Amino acid sequence: MTGSGDKTDPLRDGRGNRDRSITKSDEADGSEVFRDETGSAGREASANVDPAGPFLQARNMTGGYGAVDILNDCTIDAEKGEISVIVGPNGAGKSTAMKAIFGMLNLRKGSVTIGGEDITALSPQARVAKGMAFVPQTSNVFPSMTVEENLEMGAFLREDDFRKTIEQVYTLFPILRDKRRQAAGELSGGQRQQVAVGRALMTLPQVLMLDEPTAGVSPIVMDELFDRIIEVARTGITILMVEQNARQALEIADKGYVLVQGANAHTDTGPALLADPEVRRTFLGGQ
Ligand SMILES: Nc1ncnc2c1ncn2[C@@H]1O[C@H](COP(=O)(O)OP(=O)(O)OP(=O)(O)O)[C@@H](O)[C@H]1O
Ligand SMILES: [Mg+2]
Repeated sequence: MTGSGDKTDPLRDGRGNRDRSITKSDEADGSEVFRDETGSAGREASANVDPAGPFLQARNMTGGYGAVDILNDCTIDAEKGEISVIVGPNGAGKSTAMKAIFGMLNLRKGSVTIGGEDITALSPQARVAKGMAFVPQTSNVFPSMTVEENLEMGAFLREDDFRKTIEQVYTLFPILRDKRRQAAGELSGGQRQQVAVGRALMTLPQVLMLDEPTAGVSPIVMDELFDRIIEVARTGITILMVEQNARQALEIADKGYVLVQGANAHTDTGPALLADPEVRRTFLGGQ
């Protein structure tokens, strides 16, 4: 961290390959690469936010579904254009943390900010307007609607012409162009996940949150999806992803979080977590 306070474009060059746009090559306007360009300018920083810190800051989250807390002082950050991955055992609270960050769960304590703006009190829909998109673990497509209708649904908050974004989604996931008139419910698991990610991208998010995007898909399809997610991150979108395939996900993670019982157990870069003997022993089958 530089501590400069002006962090509109941090680490953008860190991953390299910035010139490999996922826009169609014949498009002159490279500015619309699944995100708007408003950045965080003009947003006020809240008291418990590090203004020079990561783009998404979910700090000290404590809360649950009733009297019992599921999250216990859980902190998750994600940098602009980077991939942050949450792993941990079943029931650890990974999905709960995602729901809390997206505003589907009231926190007893803690805060969520994007671009220095405190969004802790906002509804999920208001967070979408602020640049968040969330692909939940289940029921993440409208099965009776066509692929293209699903993508159009993703643009419900937009008043501009979203045709170009649909084309960008088809460029990212070419199979969806072929299947655009088919009901999403008729697609394979991996193709459905592509629809779900594509629908989220239709909002031109600054932060894309994915809860187990590779659930139930083959290793080859998983690798393919991870490649596409890396491509999306390279356009400057912040990715926060929960993954059951811990090893493969940590391999591509700029930052990894191991959650246990709703609390941060280990936090480091993906490769460092993969090399950590304790993490290997307890979460990665000792390999
Ligand atoms: N809607 C709910 N109401 C009450 N309790 C819930 C609800 N959703 C989840 N829980 C409980 O919260 C805890 C954490 O669940 P969560 O779904 O966040 O775990 P997870 O880490 O995502 O697990 P998995 O790897 O199985 O997806 C579990 O004990 C679960 O039973
Ligand atoms: Mg879950």
